[in-house]
Amino acid sequence: MKKLFLETLGCAMNSRDSEHLVAQLNQKEPYQLTTELGEADLIIINTCSVREKPVSKLFSEIGVFNKKRKKGAKIGVCGCTASHLGKEIIKRAPVVDFVLGARNVSKINEVVDKHHAVEIDINYDESQFQFGEYRNHSLRAMINISIGCDKQCSFCIVPATRGEEISIPKDIIISEIQKVVDNGAKEVMLLGQNVNNYGRRFSDNSGSKYSFTMLLQDISKIDGLKRIRFTSPHPLHMDDEFLEEFASNPKICKQIHIPLQSGSTKLLKEMKRGYTKEWFLNRCNKIREMLPNVAISTDIIVGFPNESEEDFNDTLDVLEKVRFDQLFSFKYSPRPMTPAKDYENQVDAQVASARLTHLQARHTEILDEIMDSQLGCEIEVYFDELKANNQISGRSDEGRLVYIDGSEDILGTIRKIKVTKVSRASLSGELI
Ligand code: 5AD
Ligand code: SF4
Repeated sequence: MKKLFLETLGCAMNSRDSEHLVAQLNQKEPYQLTTELGEADLIIINTCSVREKPVSKLFSEIGVFNKKRKKGAKIGVCGCTASHLGKEIIKRAPVVDFVLGARNVSKINEVVDKHHAVEIDINYDESQFQFGEYRNHSLRAMINISIGCDKQCSFCIVPATRGEEISIPKDIIISEIQKVVDNGAKEVMLLGQNVNNYGRRFSDNSGSKYSFTMLLQDISKIDGLKRIRFTSPHPLHMDDEFLEEFASNPKICKQIHIPLQSGSTKLLKEMKRGYTKEWFLNRCNKIREMLPNVAISTDIIVGFPNESEEDFNDTLDVLEKVRFDQLFSFKYSPRPMTPAKDYENQVDAQVASARLTHLQARHTEILDEIMDSQLGCEIEVYFDELKANNQISGRSDEGRLVYIDGSEDILGTIRKIKVTKVSRASLSGELI
């Protein structure tokens, strides 16, 4: 059997695309995944282009992979950087055999054997493509609900790499979920760049009255499915109807990722985010009123052009008020094909680094307090991973990582535990 070395960078969408790549390759001829580069017949790098760093890493990595690869092994570059740089990748690194864009995953078998093939059409519509079945986990599954992104955030390259937003038809989503539930999954993660914009456009260019809230209601009717997560919703589309469904539907996990980006209304306007600091706080307060223990996570960019101390203080203020469970924070990285790269008053790199350190340090203090408050609590955990030293891990409803001592029979079950130990990254406990 041929062997495949597959490296996946970037977001959850990319992880799902990697599963799709394996599924499609296997339909032509079976591949075995390997972590040993030197024994692979096919090497694929599924790239991210959201910041400059992974892009520059790509070219040095191609050089290393080229030296270490077995004679005759092929190298393919897929994903967002493939969409963005296209044949430029082969020009700069002729050892690359093919380039396949983030929106052309279904075409892997058309390029894999074609020397220097490039497929990067961002208008290609894969929203109704029925991919083969391949999944890294059987107990939990990622389910795409849309492709692309219609937002025009001024810092973000994604609309240029993943194209316009198209919702996947509801029937395809429901049947995908039914399949994974039949195979033993109790939890799904619904994926889209902008999940709560679901239903605004389908392949035939029609919009419909069928909303994300209605999709959540229909998905939760699936017997055997116990937990629903999703990422990412956009703060702008968080209407009351959606928040009330989130709070009252017992199958929806009480964890929500709400990307803030900045706490300054002035910067949010320049980022073209469509909401204000007050709107963001209002939405978070509404969720917390209904669900005091909800876990809210976020993304924040520091050092966006024109960011003053006062703007940064607004971001810190939101951090204090919302007390995020998880923070993904980044230094602004100017990206090609985005308006913000040409904005005046780019922030000094050292100032941006200092702000990032400050933000992360304060978040860590808050996180320690949140985790400490979990000690002694009784929580429900879905155990889905076998670990070393007779340990089993899982997630609480709020998405916190939990370890217990236990054996394989606990896998795939939801159990109540008492938290006996806390750390910054996880909880440990005992079955009760
Ligand atoms: N620079 C830094 N961070 C960025 N993100 C998106 N574009 C950029 C950029 N140009 C961050 C945002 C987004 C997350 C996936 O990556 O916070 O939510
Ligand atoms: Fe995901 Fe964005 Fe990176 Fe593409 S650029 S892999 S959409 S995070």
